[in-house]
Amino acid sequence: MARKTKVLPIYVLNGPNLNLLGTREPEVYGRMTLAEIGKAVAARAKAASLGVVFRQTNHEGEMIDWLQEARTKASGVILNGAGWTHTSVALLDACRMLDRPLIEVHLSNPYKREAYRRRSFVSEVADGVICGLRAQGYLFAIDAIAALLKDRNT
Ligand code: DQA
Repeated sequence: MARKTKVLPIYVLNGPNLNLLGTREPEVYGRMTLAEIGKAVAARAKAASLGVVFRQTNHEGEMIDWLQEARTKASGVILNGAGWTHTSVALLDACRMLDRPLIEVHLSNPYKREAYRRRSFVSEVADGVICGLRAQGYLFAIDAIAALLKDRNT
């Protein structure tokens, strides 16, 4: 009898200040809370028979720990690095070591905003970038990871 191999969950990692979604600049980031986005993401992943680990932190070291953990415990990573996207070489270094599909997500479109948001360290190693589509971007990112995993396994 063929044994089913267990597919590792997708890690969806959110950086600083995203815990305040819903009330934080809703005209820029939308009105959904992070908990609501987490629920929608889990449902989308479930439809593709994938699990999700959904987390947020305001502490850069904790984010680096999670990215290191994802090297062996995740099938892929969706990362909204928030402000660290534009500043953190440490975040880039951790992403570079992933060897898993990585999709960078932003709720807003940083290219429409201040010049300092146009630089993304994460983009240097991400397989894809989805921005400007608010919460829906996370759902498209799940679809993208599912497709990339399928490609890798065929
Ligand atoms: C963000 C965009 C970043 O420029 C900003 O610092 C954030 C959120 C987004 O999701 O649109 O905190 O990553």
